[in-house]
Amino acid sequence: MAEELQISQGGKDEKYALLYKQIVALVENEDDAIANMANVAAMIHTTFGFWWTGFYRVIDSELILGPFQGPLACSRIAYGRGVCGTAWKEAMTQVVPDVEKFPGHIACSSASKSEIVVPVIKNGEVAAVLDIDSEHLATFDATDKLWLERIVGLL
Ligand code: SME
Repeated sequence: MAEELQISQGGKDEKYALLYKQIVALVENEDDAIANMANVAAMIHTTFGFWWTGFYRVIDSELILGPFQGPLACSRIAYGRGVCGTAWKEAMTQVVPDVEKFPGHIACSSASKSEIVVPVIKNGEVAAVLDIDSEHLATFDATDKLWLERIVGLL
């Protein structure tokens, strides 16, 4: 059991390592933030087959939906609201194993069971958040947090 767990963790780590290299190459050749967010969302989404993968950008006093892959989502989220608004307010990654247990979680889809939201920090301020939803409980762990923080650091 422990061995199986290690193998599956290793698989995820390897996938992220490869993805990271591909994203380094991508952003080296493109400086448009929206184009890069669009391709990063597509690359993460297709690599792992998550339910929803996308960005919300901080515009004035709210988060506005940006490039994403997956079903329709809420267009605007207020500061401090839901998992995304909390990641913005605290400027810290939120790992939520069970969205029903997160006070104020915004259910864009009832299929979403667990979630990770990683702030994109530019010049010391949160400029956007990367939100990933899974239709399974407890999909995200410290490995996802580590690699996704590295990935958004490239943007
Ligand atoms: N669940 C998020 C809202 C965004 S959707 O999941 C795409 C939240 O609570 O902030």
